[in-house]
Amino acid sequence: EENAEFDYEVIAQEGTTPFFEGVSTQTFGYNGDLLGPTLRLKEGETVRVKVRNELNEPTTFHWHGLEVPGSADGGPSDEIQPGESKVVTLKADQPAATLWYHPHPHELTAKQVFKGLAGMLYVEEADASELPDEYGVDDIPLIFQDRLFNDKRQLDYEELMNNDGTVGDVSLVNGTLNPKLTVEKPQMRFRVLNGANARNYTLRLSNGAKFKQIASDGGMLDEPVEMEEITLSASERAEILVDFSGMDGDEPVSIVDGDGTVLLPFDLAFDPESAEAEPSSWESGEPFVTEEEKAMPVSKKIELFGMMEMVTINGKKFDPDRIDLRQEKGVPEVWEVYNKPDMMGGMIHPFHIHGTQFKIISRDGKEPAPNERGLKDSVLVEPGERVKLLVTFPEEGVYMYHCHILEHEDNGMMGQVEVY
Ligand code: C2O
Ligand code: CU
Ligand code: CU
Repeated sequence: EENAEFDYEVIAQEGTTPFFEGVSTQTFGYNGDLLGPTLRLKEGETVRVKVRNELNEPTTFHWHGLEVPGSADGGPSDEIQPGESKVVTLKADQPAATLWYHPHPHELTAKQVFKGLAGMLYVEEADASELPDEYGVDDIPLIFQDRLFNDKRQLDYEELMNNDGTVGDVSLVNGTLNPKLTVEKPQMRFRVLNGANARNYTLRLSNGAKFKQIASDGGMLDEPVEMEEITLSASERAEILVDFSGMDGDEPVSIVDGDGTVLLPFDLAFDPESAEAEPSSWESGEPFVTEEEKAMPVSKKIELFGMMEMVTINGKKFDPDRIDLRQEKGVPEVWEVYNKPDMMGGMIHPFHIHGTQFKIISRDGKEPAPNERGLKDSVLVEPGERVKLLVTFPEEGVYMYHCHILEHEDNGMMGQVEVY
């Protein structure tokens, strides 16, 4: 397939990045030194992507959130050896959404993402919408990642790694340390990805202004939800609208972290006090989870447990030769995900399933928050919590499900579901 025609080429390669002035460190990137290009597919579109590995180690190309057949999903069994390439066909047969892509090689995922391999993957509305949609102008991807540098300011993963998730002391936005964003339009759409190996981000605006969340991992919410802050665990996405009109033009505004750390300062290219933004709103009119769906019995139980190297799902570690679950294509089932506490209390595990966009039915028997009334592929599960998901796989194949703390995943907190 080496010479088959393709629409995009994505090459995993080594590079160097000067995060600090005058000091470069080795990084990995797709088609460049760090991160990768935003791949933009239209709803319903089919593209052929040539993926090539120019690293000195195996990698895979996983399309996180895209409902592709297992054979195109790029899980750990789909390794591409150094110097090799492959053409995969991706069909965007699902609602418009902000997805992403990253490597998934067995026991190397955390390192390769930490070194810089990740990129945005959009499924875009086929028709013009009322939402801001000018890429890079009023529709901007924001990838939040934390990083730890050693005392030589190098991203030395082997030296810095932590088995519970390598957590940094600085944050990057779109791969930039100390970023700044010039805002051109009063109403902005930000497509936010928590691309960290492990940590949660709780994001808010420094001036306390509210924003609207319009989409979750897999597409639009039922209706826009007004929020003051949003928490995203590793791999979760949210699309938010920020209306800068009416803000105090003298007060600097930035996106800050839960503890007030400035993550992304804005530079407004207009006077917000005289600016006007068009409001956008919608309502689906249908219940997101129906009464029948709520009444469905649990048919799959997932128990997340442990920390460090001692992480398991249903008491087991990942075995590439073992199929843990089976589910029929197109048939919805209720998965109950339980995060079993340990003697220390336990820790949060962001649970992710490949090849599906699911619905959250309940959290400990209660309705999920309004901003979880949208399709999801990753869900934050607190220690002791039981989350019910309605899971349907539209395609066939073998798919991973795992904790998206990448070091937990590499330590075996992963299973396989075969969809037939
Ligand atoms: Cu982001 Cu197994 O995936
Ligand atoms: Cu995934
Ligand atoms: Cu975990």
